[in-house]
Amino acid sequence: ALVRRVHFVKGAVEMGGCPKGDRGEVAFIGRSNVGKSSLVNMITARKTLAYTSKRPGKTQQFNYFAVNDKVDVERELRYGDDIKGEKDFDSFYICDLPGFGYAKVPESQRREWGGFMREYFEGRRNLRVVFHLIDSRHGVVDEDERIMGECAEIFGGGKKGTTYVVVLTKADKNVKGGANGGGGKAGGGVIKMVRDKMREKGVGGNPIIVTSSETKLGRDDMWRYLRLAADY
Ligand code: GTP
Ligand code: MG
Repeated sequence: ALVRRVHFVKGAVEMGGCPKGDRGEVAFIGRSNVGKSSLVNMITARKTLAYTSKRPGKTQQFNYFAVNDKVDVERELRYGDDIKGEKDFDSFYICDLPGFGYAKVPESQRREWGGFMREYFEGRRNLRVVFHLIDSRHGVVDEDERIMGECAEIFGGGKKGTTYVVVLTKADKNVKGGANGGGGKAGGGVIKMVRDKMREKGVGGNPIIVTSSETKLGRDDMWRYLRLAADY
């Protein structure tokens, strides 16, 4: 039981709104509708922790979730005996970001989020992992390239103690055998395409994880990196 407890903490719209950085933290970034909030639910095994939607533009703030908050777990240790013997209560924050690249979000709003993201990347000292989600059917598109370059500049080669990880989402929708197989852009080609783009942008050596929130593909791979925040 790696996730004993998890709850929504708050939504932040500026650095001052982030909770105290007293534990490790991971961030989920990527285009609108790529599946960030769904993946937050998948890794925490909760169905409706983070709100998801068929329509892009659902998440509108930097939404903070606390995994295994010490206060909760200690309270439970005091009043309950059902978790005796379990020791894996490492706590960390998950930060689910608004998506980028959604045309209907006003320019001023995008600029604000973009500025906050940059400031957050550069200033959030407890940030251990940045998961950059990319739709496995489409590969790297427009805004992804720009963000990848930004991440290479800020986190490249593990700078600042943050690991940049590319996560291919919705692999279940890859009819031609999934992201690892099949043909064309929607098949095995996508990993090579993403890897080439990563190399070009300066993060060629960083990990790529293939996931599906529907089938839970990639859950253990995600947890290998979530541990970096849990072990902070
Ligand atoms: P914003 O908050 O708008 O930035 O979007 P998001 O990146 O948080 O996407 P969200 O998790 O809300 O998912 C968008 C849509 O994609 C929803 O309809 C999800 O059900 C669907 N979806 C997400 N992940 C998967 C997946 O792994 N497989 C399939 N088939 N659908 C998925
Ligand atoms: Mg979302």
